[in-house]
Amino acid sequence: MTTLPATGRTHADLLADLTARKAGDRDWRQGRLAVYFYWLDEELERVQQDAYLAFWTENNLGQRAYPSLKSIEDEVIAMSLALLGGGERAGGTFTSGGSESIFLAMMAARNKARVANPNIVLPNSAHLTFDRAAQALGMEIRRVPIGADLRADPAAMAARMDASTVALVGSAPNYPFGTFDPIEAIAALAAERGVWMHVDACVGGFLAPYVRRLGHHIPPFELSVPGVTSLSADIHKHGMAPKGASLLLMADAADREWHKFESHAWQRGPYAAYTTQGTRPGGAVAAAWASMNYLGDAGYLRCARLIMEAKAIMTAGIVAIPGLAILEPSDLCIFVWRAVDPSLDVGKVAAALDAEGWLVGRQQEPDGIHLHLNPIHREIAEDYVAAVARAVAAARGEATARIGANERTY
Ligand SMILES: Cc1ncc(COP(=O)(O)O)c(C=O)c1O
Repeated sequence: MTTLPATGRTHADLLADLTARKAGDRDWRQGRLAVYFYWLDEELERVQQDAYLAFWTENNLGQRAYPSLKSIEDEVIAMSLALLGGGERAGGTFTSGGSESIFLAMMAARNKARVANPNIVLPNSAHLTFDRAAQALGMEIRRVPIGADLRADPAAMAARMDASTVALVGSAPNYPFGTFDPIEAIAALAAERGVWMHVDACVGGFLAPYVRRLGHHIPPFELSVPGVTSLSADIHKHGMAPKGASLLLMADAADREWHKFESHAWQRGPYAAYTTQGTRPGGAVAAAWASMNYLGDAGYLRCARLIMEAKAIMTAGIVAIPGLAILEPSDLCIFVWRAVDPSLDVGKVAAALDAEGWLVGRQQEPDGIHLHLNPIHREIAEDYVAAVARAVAAARGEATARIGANERTY
């Protein structure tokens, strides 16, 4: 059994121990993961670390004590609303991550509608964190099959709605395929039926506007789309901030009241919060603010360019390997590739890539390999294609074990 040490260990001993424990971790700085991290370069990393350390233990629950954190958080929200179509009435909340933003949005939708047995209607490509929120909030989840174009089917969603439907959801883009749902059509449906419409732009929020500026087609998904009520955008994803930074943005700031908790039912007096967290790390908001201001528009545009270049190199290289194909369409930084030659076992290709040190994201449907690119992948795009070619050769030689889709589903 592990217990606390009887006497404390030294600073040097602890750091040596932590560093040694990392020896077996995947080397994400080398871009060998296509999940869990976002990285540009060491300069940005240092900015983030210094900004985090400047507020390393300040509690963002206590903005009365730290007006600095209030002004920093307000600026993060204002910059994001300006980027993501927020009008004069818009507002937002800084949260710990995409899951908390989505939880709060679904709670607000439920609280505003006040119906018995509330349900959420969403495409079946939407992130599973909606199901987790629904489970905790006592709501029913109605997953509707997406179309052959890998996008939500608004007519099929309409058919699943009833008087207890309190929210519709669309992704911008979804995680399994990287496709944008038809946000305008889903939002119009929501407006017609008078229900909450949430846009999950956790992945796309800080990337899609810049990819659009590069000339790629990105359909409207922002708060400015009529009928959109709320939008989640993760600063700790393509906002390039360290973990613990997301936003729940509202087209009308008044709707924030539906996810506010407020009570004075104890001896200590009133307590109020717009988040599920009480104590909140000041470092996370300071580092998010620093990342956004350090990169600026030009920096985010550079990230977008690097990602789309990496995607072009990887997809062209993969389709040139006999037996492989890219699943189309994919609009942004996520894509899936698979084997179209029935004699080629993608589980064996995955195992061969894994053996070379690439952490493989296995797609369940269709059986394939999932990639979520970030700027560092531009540097290793050619290496990845070469590794895939070697892995396919190894799999054809039957020399490798198998990684099945259900063993690695994220
Ligand atoms: C589309 C989408 N929504 C929501 C989430 C959940 O975000 P988080 O992991 O920050 O809670 C993710 C995470 O990958 C995502 O891809």
